[in-house]
Amino acid sequence: MKGIHILATGHFAPDKIVTNDDLSKIVDTTDEWITSRTGMKKRHFCEAGDNNVTLATEAAKMALDKADIDINEIGALVVSTFSGDYLVPSAACQVQQELGLSDDIICFDLNAACSGFVFGIETMRGLLMQSEKRYGLLIGSECISRRLDMTDRGSCILFGDGAGAALIELDENRSYTSVYGCHGDLAVINCPNDANKPGRVHMEGQATYKFAVSTVPKLIKKVVEKAGIELEAIDAYVCHQANARIVDAVAKHLKQPKEKFFMNLDEYANTSAASVAIALSDAIDKGFCKPGQKVLLAGFGAGKTWGAIIVDL
Ligand code: UT7
Repeated sequence: MKGIHILATGHFAPDKIVTNDDLSKIVDTTDEWITSRTGMKKRHFCEAGDNNVTLATEAAKMALDKADIDINEIGALVVSTFSGDYLVPSAACQVQQELGLSDDIICFDLNAACSGFVFGIETMRGLLMQSEKRYGLLIGSECISRRLDMTDRGSCILFGDGAGAALIELDENRSYTSVYGCHGDLAVINCPNDANKPGRVHMEGQATYKFAVSTVPKLIKKVVEKAGIELEAIDAYVCHQANARIVDAVAKHLKQPKEKFFMNLDEYANTSAASVAIALSDAIDKGFCKPGQKVLLAGFGAGKTWGAIIVDL
């Protein structure tokens, strides 16, 4: 199956840092509770002047700065997000303008919640197969802080803002395997879009936790089996950064060393569609993921949705 080459990545988060102690002044929680239950230490929140598009644009610029390409050869721009600044126009159209990309480009937002970046890779690969241009720009960007119920300690402590970007081209010499799923469920995680009052994220924490630890190991086994390889052939796992305990449980279930699983949720918390994008970019910058490696990306979340991809870096 024709693969993809991730030429360059970038990630960006707003300057404002919110620590667990900061949150303990807003809701009845403690640094000890948040750290022990989630592994999260801090998160970044947008301030005046920051928004979904500014985050997405900065992450994209970082990726483009690392790649020596003609930006007129970018034929598709997809922003995975559920927290766009406008219902219309899409964040992607605004980023296209900010970056000065050519007009003959397909631009749209994709909403698959925390599976957004993984679903975005599959979508981008399909778009590039149809495109007359060589490159696609995929961004996961979220400004979730504006969608949080800051009176609900069960959810407001979990999320942060940020964006990650990847510049992608097709590559016949790289392998590619993907597995996806959806089981429609409004109750477990939702964020209403009510014209009369701004929607806030609602999550049934325990139900989501159980969904994650039962779904993700099966998902990973399935994509590895589909690729015709063993788990041991995966050099690095970059999973959705929802909870360190979830990542640990997945590693334990798969009997894989925890050290193969990248984590940066202590710094960014859960950034939904940006989570896997930021983690991948950070993992590459830190040398955790290297060229030539086989990397498994896995996302899961509201929908409910889930997806995993094995790529050759
Ligand atoms: O990106 C989408 C995917 N999201 C996820 O995967 C999140 C999955 N869920 C989780 O990560 C965990 O369920 C949470 C971190 C959200 C909660 O951890 P938990 O161990 O499942 O806690 P719990 O919901 O069972 O609550 C245990 C206790 C409760 O108190 P009582 O009823 O035992 O007295 C909660 O009210 O902890 C309380 N609690 C808190 N206490 C201090 C809930 N949130 C907090 C808090 N600080 N922030």
